[in-house]
Order: sequence, then C-alpha cells, then structure tokens
Amino acid sequence: MTIQEGYTIWSETYDADTNRTRDLDAQITALVLGNRRFASILELGCGTGKNTALLATIGGTVRAVDFSEGMIARAKARISAPNVTFAAANIAEPWDALAESFDLVVCNLVLEHLEHLSPVFAEAHRALSQRGTFFLSELHPFRQYDGSVANFSQGGTATEIPAFLHNVSDFVTAAQGKGFAVQALQEWWHDDDAGQPPRLLSFLFTKGTVIEQIGASGDISKP
Ligand SMILES: C[S@@+](CC[C@H](N)C(=O)[O-])C[C@H]1O[C@@H](n2cnc3c(N)ncnc32)[C@H](O)[C@@H]1O
Repeated sequence: MTIQEGYTIWSETYDADTNRTRDLDAQITALVLGNRRFASILELGCGTGKNTALLATIGGTVRAVDFSEGMIARAKARISAPNVTFAAANIAEPWDALAESFDLVVCNLVLEHLEHLSPVFAEAHRALSQRGTFFLSELHPFRQYDGSVANFSQGGTATEIPAFLHNVSDFVTAAQGKGFAVQALQEWWHDDDAGQPPRLLSFLFTKGTVIEQIGASGDISKP
C-alpha cells in the first residue's frame, strides 16, 4: 500500500480514532500560532482539515494542499470558510506556488512520510515572502526509535503507513542549508506521556540567517 492510498483509507476514520499525537498537535499549533496573524498561509498535508480551521482564523487567505483525495474531501466537507482554498498536490514534487506568495508555511505530521527533507525546505523558501515563517510539527524521532509509526485500525486490521526517520539535526541541517534560521525548537508531551520521550518536535523557522532563539517550551510541553 502506498502512503497516498493508506491515507485515503485512513481518512474514513482519522477524525474519530483515538490519537494522542493528532490531538497534541492541534493543541500546540494553537498555542504557537493562535495569537499571530498572517496575510497568506500555505498548509502542507492538510489532512482532514484539523488545523485548517485554526489557520482560517489567523490568516487572510489559506491555501491547503494534500495528495490524498480522501483527506482533501474530508477537509472540504469540514471547512466552509471563504478564505480557504484546497488543492491536490504532492509536496515531494516541485510546488506550483508562486515565489514569495505566502508569509507562513505550515506542515504538521507530514514530513515523516517524505524520504528527503531538503526539497521541501527549498520549495518552502521559494514560496515564502522575505522574513516569512515556516512552522513545522512532527512526530519526535525519539518515538520512532521506540518503534512508533503512523498507523490505524479498521475492521480489526492494523495498517502502518510507510515512514522515514529524520533526526532533530536532519531538520536543522536541511533548513539551514536552504536559507532558514531556527527561531524556536520545542519538544512536547501529551498529558498521558509522563516519563516517556517527547511525542512531538516543533520548529519555527524564519527566512534569514540569524539564530534568534532555541529551546523555549510552552507549559504543556513539560512531562
Ligand atoms: C498524519 S496526516 C496529518 C494531517 C494534518 N496535517 C493533521 O495534522 O492532522 C499526514 C497527511 O500528510 C499527507 N501527505 C503525506 N505525504 C504527502 C505528500 N508527499 N504530499 C502531500 N501530502 C502528503 C497525507 O495524505 C495526510 O493527509
């Protein structure tokens, strides 16, 4: 089963499943971005639109893309905000976004499914305006070391979605190599994760070369 096929099947139950990673991601995205405002946002791998609803409230316009027709269909059914448009696109291929069209690019729980990080950072850099921001939230690689893989169960059958391991330094190196500075690097735990490795890793990258801040964590990120 390909990643694309897997997500289209999973789209039927993605929102209803118990999923601490999905829920924590929604929490931390609201915490990090909720008080900010952007003229134009590009969301990569929007899935069923879980974060698109928030982005619609903080962005003048939101362009949300995903390569799973099933996921996009769910997102369209969920979001009726007039400032949001959806498109089918594979972000591993060159993006059709116009250069410097967006001031925020958002990507949540997607890059574990891409083998190569550098092309995504190159395209995000091209798509962002000067001093634009790239917010990235991912399953923490420590969880992958422990065997966690995106997976779902339907009709008693468990299915794993193919994934690739990217270490923390891989994200930083790929981002800096394409002209981003690390503005914030944070690690996050769900309320039920006490004593376990962090569940999520998030970054705010800025187009530019100055390292402004590394390592600040919000209250809910502490184990
Ligand atoms: C775990 S879901 C996360 C969805 C959403 N961002 C969220 O946080 O709920 C991963 C999403 O990434 C999409 N995806 C994975 N690889 C992709 C690619 N190469 N291009 C576009 N979308 C992709 C999948 O179709 C799926 O909707």
